[in-house]
Amino acid sequence: MGWMKKDLLALSDLTKEEIEFILKTADSFKEVLGRDIKKVPSLRGKTVVNLFFEPSTRTRTSFELAAKRLSADVVNITTTASSITKGESLLDMARNIEALQANIIIVRHPSSGVPYLLSRALKQSSVLNAGDGKHEHPSQGLLDLFTIIEKKGSISGLKVVIVGDIQHSRVARSDIHGLSKMGADIHVVGPPTMIPSFVTQWKVKIHYNLDKAISGADVIILLRLQMERQTKGTIPHRLTSQSRPVSQPSIIAHVGGGFFPTTREYSRLYGLNGERLAQANKDALVMHPGPINRGVEITSDVADGLSSVILDQVTNGIAVRMALLYLLSGQTNG
Ligand code: CP
Repeated sequence: MGWMKKDLLALSDLTKEEIEFILKTADSFKEVLGRDIKKVPSLRGKTVVNLFFEPSTRTRTSFELAAKRLSADVVNITTTASSITKGESLLDMARNIEALQANIIIVRHPSSGVPYLLSRALKQSSVLNAGDGKHEHPSQGLLDLFTIIEKKGSISGLKVVIVGDIQHSRVARSDIHGLSKMGADIHVVGPPTMIPSFVTQWKVKIHYNLDKAISGADVIILLRLQMERQTKGTIPHRLTSQSRPVSQPSIIAHVGGGFFPTTREYSRLYGLNGERLAQANKDALVMHPGPINRGVEITSDVADGLSSVILDQVTNGIAVRMALLYLLSGQTNG
């Protein structure tokens, strides 16, 4: 198959065949990354702009490296040093970047839907979503799929347990859309306050008890607690793995907008440690999109242990993003 899309906005927009095509393309770029000279001329003369309105270590660096490995010219726009601070609107800014002949604009924004807004407004430049609010983080979802296939051979039938802040996680959404299209048996587990009711519309099994959910898992994906997005919610009186949230105020000091009482309690109930990992399959993979909070979502011995593929995810991100830039550049003019 060929690639027909101008933009990459969400994994919910892609078919299984399109996902497989991206992953197959990423496979060939992974081979390039194993060479002494990790560079190909595929995007020579093309311009890639990184437009990040939120902090990022992995995604921004990975997209920049991916573009450079493809010989593109790369421009990083720091929004705090841009004319946004002088009152320029997001759309005007994007139209000006397009007028500067950017072929691909990679955007991360705290508001869900911003990449769709840019996609509709820009007729020449491709738009690549690098994470929009609580909506999706498609390149992270794809690199997670790539890493699972690399380590396990395939995804169909694997028990994948996604742990933690499902409510605020764009990674969880992209992973769930991607994994369900690839035939995984998906389980989500977390505090009741962090499992949104709309999860019931997806093909996932819902748990509140990590010890039960993790039994027989092939893959465990831990999520970062999205403190910056936890602005409001009901306050659980006491957060037990069986309880539903109750709306009365808690006497326990609470953090994160009241979605859980304390990080210590969160860690006690939902943190992955060696004892819990032992209940998963012997060769289970431990994944995390990063940045990790050691001692909260994961203990250091597990994060650095033999089951952890967290750094493999980061490395694979370059190959997957090379594939995305390569495929989208075929659709841009100029
Ligand atoms: N996984 C991820 O999006 O990490 P960054 O926020 O560092 O880009």
